[in-house]
Amino acid sequence: MRPGQAVSDAGAAALPERAASLARIDDYLTRHAPPTPCVVVDLATIRQRYMALRAALPQADIYYAVKANPAPAVLRTLAGLGTGVDVASSGEIDRCLALGIAARRCCFGNTIKHERDIRRAHAAGIGLFAFDCAAEVEKLARAAPGARVLCRLAVRGNGAEWPLTRKFGCSAATAPHLLAHAASLGLRPAGVSFHVGSQQTDPSQWAGAIGAAAGVFAACARAGVGLDLLDLGGGLPAQYRTPVPPLGAYAETILASVRQHFAGSAPALMIEPGRYLAGDAGLLRAQVLLIARHGGHEGRRWVYLDAGRYNGLAETQGERIHYPLRTRYDGAASEPVVLAGPTCDSTDIIYDRAGCALPLELAIGDSVDFLSAGAYTASYASVEFNGFAPIATHCFEAGE
Ligand SMILES: Cc1ncc(COP(=O)(O)O)c(C=O)c1O
Repeated sequence: MRPGQAVSDAGAAALPERAASLARIDDYLTRHAPPTPCVVVDLATIRQRYMALRAALPQADIYYAVKANPAPAVLRTLAGLGTGVDVASSGEIDRCLALGIAARRCCFGNTIKHERDIRRAHAAGIGLFAFDCAAEVEKLARAAPGARVLCRLAVRGNGAEWPLTRKFGCSAATAPHLLAHAASLGLRPAGVSFHVGSQQTDPSQWAGAIGAAAGVFAACARAGVGLDLLDLGGGLPAQYRTPVPPLGAYAETILASVRQHFAGSAPALMIEPGRYLAGDAGLLRAQVLLIARHGGHEGRRWVYLDAGRYNGLAETQGERIHYPLRTRYDGAASEPVVLAGPTCDSTDIIYDRAGCALPLELAIGDSVDFLSAGAYTASYASVEFNGFAPIATHCFEAGE
């Protein structure tokens, strides 16, 4: 976002799909008036997103990344449509299994796991795990003997607004050795995974990653280790303030790269979307608690909300994710503000440098809506920082 540019953005609300979803969410808000702060999720949009992805990439088995929004209604909706789940912890596994999701439809994709959690997952029937180093392979061999395993590659992730580089993945040169090590310990090497970074705005990032994965497949084949599964990770974007390429551009790049690099022997594909499925389906409603000028009469206007970095808006850290904002005065005269959360912590600032402008008429008690806030909001909230409860999620079917 350019300095001085308003965050509040009627244009973003003009997307036809968003307008229809917002109309349903507004209907729900009018009829139920849930206390703020809250996240409201339109399950119809989640379903539409699933259908669009299914149609664009029919070759890929979809595993929803539970971390994006683990609300039971979201999980039930997606599992009912046939998705598997990408899970990060025992907590997510327990939640999915309790909802009746089959263990064979779960992929334990976190590369950093407690050995006891691997053992529990294996005992529950989960058979697919990810790793990116020898020590994790050895944990898996001890705690999940015979399991199928994916080796996660480190990829560049340029173009991601929420990058996932450095912390995860091994090089394409190391991966074949790790997969052979896994085989030697009795695990069953399945294939390769990667994540090109969340809110990835550049479809060509998949091309580089798929090319690197193909090199690992070829090296493994030469070493007598057969692989048959390519996990395309997450990264498909939601529509925040800055336009992103259409889904078709991502699907075309992915399929063309698979054709190019795996000529004649394409592996099975899986994809782990989180943000793409849940992000645009949700709205976070906050209320203005206080408006003050700091630094004297000439100072900046600070607007304090009942939601902030620690209860739902974690991804505004570093002002990375720019949610479109909505108030009932949109279009009226506005002024740049510092937008902040309710805790006694000076890091609890939502937008400062981003040049967030809000209407001058905005007053204490008014609502501020963060659009496209269905992913990585409620699931990211702290449990009780400053005694504020985790933000509530309300999922609804149209007309409820
Ligand atoms: C292993 C894994 N898969 C999938 C995802 C989902 O990514 P996204 O929400 O960008 O689709 C994540 C996100 O952190 C992840 O860590």
